[in-house]
Amino acid sequence: MRRRIEGRLVIATHNPGKLWELRQLLEPHGVDAVSAGELGVVEPEETETTFAGNALLKARASMQATGLPAFADDSGLCVDALSGAPGVYSARWGGENRDFAAAIRRVERELGERGATPPFTAHFICALAIVWPDGHVEEFEGRVDGVLVFPPRGEKGFGYDPIFLPDGLERTFGEMMSAEKHALPGDGSRALSHRARAFQALARACLS
Ligand code: IMP
Repeated sequence: MRRRIEGRLVIATHNPGKLWELRQLLEPHGVDAVSAGELGVVEPEETETTFAGNALLKARASMQATGLPAFADDSGLCVDALSGAPGVYSARWGGENRDFAAAIRRVERELGERGATPPFTAHFICALAIVWPDGHVEEFEGRVDGVLVFPPRGEKGFGYDPIFLPDGLERTFGEMMSAEKHALPGDGSRALSHRARAFQALARACLS
């Protein structure tokens, strides 16, 4: 049986941007979102090899540290010609300085080294996990397919946005406003980004 999210929820993130976005989503449903960072929870190392595994690991660590239901996400870019890389290492390819221009150059370089030719098919994945103190778990996943373009296009967004062209569209994520990319359509139509798609599934199942 699906479980509804009610009352207080710990968001297993130390990223203020993520927390702000989630608060916007959860507040209308009467959910009081507080970040793991605000509660002094130490971020665990992401040791799993799947997005779902890392989301669950982070949610579980926050739940255990606080005794409250906890939510976490994990996401990244998977490039087919790179056997799914950077995948769960997407953030780490940016290095300590979060240098995604360098990470994008690495993607392009590795595609060249493998002799890959366009279209460079790829997808973003976002995994969400909610863990309750009694051990109950809810998990959701969102995915968006597209192709990679070089040189990068657009100054908006973050991470690998400037090289990701979603299927059926003419602008990369880097050329879109964040609201357009992450919008949760109120009319029941399908959201665009992997994150918005995962949230759409979560909202349908767990928010009243
Ligand atoms: P995490 O989910 O915070 O571990 O970060 C995953 C990493 O994947 C980010 O640092 C970005 O590099 C990349 N990523 C995830 N979602 C997106 C997106 O929507 N656009 C661009 N890059 C993304």
